[in-house]
Amino acid sequence: MAELSLLFERVRETKVWKSVFRRGPARTNRTRSLAVFGSLFLHYLPVKVREKSLRVRATYYLGSISLILFAVLSLTGVLLMFYYHPAVPQAYRDMKDLQFVVSNGVFLRNVHRLAAHLMVLLVFAHMFHVFYRGGYKPPHEFNWVVGVILLLVTLFLSYTGYLLPWDQLAFWAITVGTNIISAMPVIGGRVRFLLLGGNLVGENALLRFYVLHCVILPLVAVWFIAVHFWRIQKDGGLTVRDTDERKE
Ligand code: HEM
Repeated sequence: MAELSLLFERVRETKVWKSVFRRGPARTNRTRSLAVFGSLFLHYLPVKVREKSLRVRATYYLGSISLILFAVLSLTGVLLMFYYHPAVPQAYRDMKDLQFVVSNGVFLRNVHRLAAHLMVLLVFAHMFHVFYRGGYKPPHEFNWVVGVILLLVTLFLSYTGYLLPWDQLAFWAITVGTNIISAMPVIGGRVRFLLLGGNLVGENALLRFYVLHCVILPLVAVWFIAVHFWRIQKDGGLTVRDTDERKE
């Protein structure tokens, strides 16, 4: 045991270790701040936060849970991509394979679906909660707009994912949905054509929805989530209210 701790001490003295872990243990306020500044994973957090904004009722962690769900969706989505081909009729067969052939395929697909439903629910709950607390007022108004974009991206992610199983439900949902889009004045028909890659829900539509769902929209979401967090810092942290005071 003593040899092991001696070895560990030696490793900590090496240049390689010091180049990765540049600061010692965070025991003082200064070293704690430096730890936050110097870590890729922590530096998006503010170095100081107001105590009131740490109360559960200040957020109910709704935004953070939305983020966790987005991470779960990304992970399970990548795993699902190993088994899925965006082609007609292979897409439907892949769904059946996930159900009957792939180990834990049903579990994987259900986790992805459930997390998707929950994310839509949680993002709405987060938005209503922020609104109730007046989180849209200056200086947070820009972040509110970023939030609205995130809400639209979340809904569009849900919508594009709906076509991918290529079953009857998917086919008709997208047919009805894109018909509604085509009712938009002036540009409706063009938007529908652009989205479907044609006039009918077919192979082109499946490929477009796949690319939107697996590449474009997740990248847009990651970008705006980063801006969202950066703005929270720049706006001086979360909105706090007098009622956030702890009731002793
Ligand atoms: C992918 C979706 C979203 C994620 C991951 C997310 C994440 C977060 C997180 C982690 C916070 C910190 C406080 C908390 O946990 O509640 C926050 C704050 C905030 N969010 Fe979101 N959010 C999302 C969508 C939205 C939407 C749809 C809106 C509104 C339209 C919105 C508006 C705001 C505002 C204004 C704040 C600052 C609140 C304050 O000052 O008290 N967010 N968000």
